[in-house]
Amino acid sequence: MERTLIKDISSSIGKEVLVKGWVDVRRDQGKMVFLDLRDATGKVQAVVLPNHDVALLEAQKVRPEWVLAVTAQVNKRPEKNVKEGVINGDVELEVLAIEVLNEAMTPAFDIATDGYEVGEEVRLEFKYLDQRRTRIQHNIRTRHKVVKYIRDYFDAENFIEVETPLLTNPTPEGSRSYLVPSRLWPKSFYALPQSPQQYKQLLMAGGFERYFQIAKCMRDEDTRGDRQPEFTQLDMEMSFVTKEDVMKINEDLLIKLVTELFPEKRIQTVPFPVLTYKEAMEKYGTDKPDIREDKEDDNLLAFCWVVDFPMFEKTGADNVDGTGEWTFTHNPFSAPQNSHMNDLLDKKNIGEIMTSQYDIACNGYEIGGGSIRNHNALLLRRVFEIMGYSDEKIEKNFKHMILALSSGTPPHGGIAWGLDRLLMVLLNEPNIREVIAFPKTGEGKDLLMNAPSPAPEKTLRELKITFT
Ligand code: AMO
Repeated sequence: MERTLIKDISSSIGKEVLVKGWVDVRRDQGKMVFLDLRDATGKVQAVVLPNHDVALLEAQKVRPEWVLAVTAQVNKRPEKNVKEGVINGDVELEVLAIEVLNEAMTPAFDIATDGYEVGEEVRLEFKYLDQRRTRIQHNIRTRHKVVKYIRDYFDAENFIEVETPLLTNPTPEGSRSYLVPSRLWPKSFYALPQSPQQYKQLLMAGGFERYFQIAKCMRDEDTRGDRQPEFTQLDMEMSFVTKEDVMKINEDLLIKLVTELFPEKRIQTVPFPVLTYKEAMEKYGTDKPDIREDKEDDNLLAFCWVVDFPMFEKTGADNVDGTGEWTFTHNPFSAPQNSHMNDLLDKKNIGEIMTSQYDIACNGYEIGGGSIRNHNALLLRRVFEIMGYSDEKIEKNFKHMILALSSGTPPHGGIAWGLDRLLMVLLNEPNIREVIAFPKTGEGKDLLMNAPSPAPEKTLRELKITFT
């Protein structure tokens, strides 16, 4: 017999079906056993009656989370037992036969709850069990829908998705890069990308004009609730555009995505308000202001843009990129605002140079940031000079960018959203770990796979790595 999905059971009243799934709950009443069965599409109550004695013996053995194939008759529930508004609330399975497909250890924690009460470490160690709970199933399935919506939107707007390399050289985004030792080139390392920034600009140099990517990014920074060492960006870049063009298309996508996939949400102000960095700092004391009228309203989304950031700031103790007195505030590839071009060229009034950067915040989280880029090689060179890079270092690290910009790169700009952060806000979750299928702990550990872990001696020898 062909398998019937649990969501489709109610259309088979009076018929025999084969259901495959997990035991969600089991209630043994001696003479009969009730089993709540669960598959990826829903739940249904099944009852094993005394007249099906072989099935009853099996049902007495099974435990929560065992995997079963159940042959059953679909019965309409008596009127008084109908559960209104619940999938399969009007039907019940009368079990005829049970085949155990797999047994299960007693689960490390309760799967029927929302899981917030379970310790994070044990949830991450048994992440596949955690994924079985309704809330996590919903979050990860919603993530899929959001990603699909984004892909369809950009496809319809003539963007193409391009996968950019993971084994590369560092691209400066203000964090440390993870390094991967090369076996074929001892003492040399690949870096995992902090973002696809340089590649997407090179794709503009390559003439694609409209790029996007659901991109994995890796940053070796201290984690916190809205940060993970490995996270996902919706990354996009466009040629021949102004900052307003990039902001407009991203705003349009966000509004449509929220309206269609999250109809219960209300966007506070459309078009999104635009604040200057100065206004945001003066009024809210932060560059990712929470401008919600009602902070208790879970369904209120208050997006806003923040613009007019200074381009450089004095190097702080945590600086990992520049070596000089100044470092970039957001992105070294950003262009200055037009009226500040000459100051950048002359390396004058550095603290006053304004960047073309635009950030987008929602409910107090920075969910994205982008800019119009320097497509002029001399301007990019000046940025690195202001950051204290020697000609030799610019040549070594950014020759490819200088050459590309000198080879007919069109004016271009783009943005990247933190997809995990956006989903966290849309799903009212307290941190991004709740919307990531396999997140790492606050200390950057993958407790499921036990990473990071020491490498075997043989691997270290091959890589010519020794520890002192
Ligand atoms: P930026 O560094 O601002 O810009 O990153 C873009 C967005 O990515 C999210 N984000 C993170 N999310 C989770 N964990 C992290 N560790 C983390 N770090 C950043 C944030 C942030 O707004 N290349 C530029 C984009 C561009 O200019 O086009 C960039 O990466 O939501």
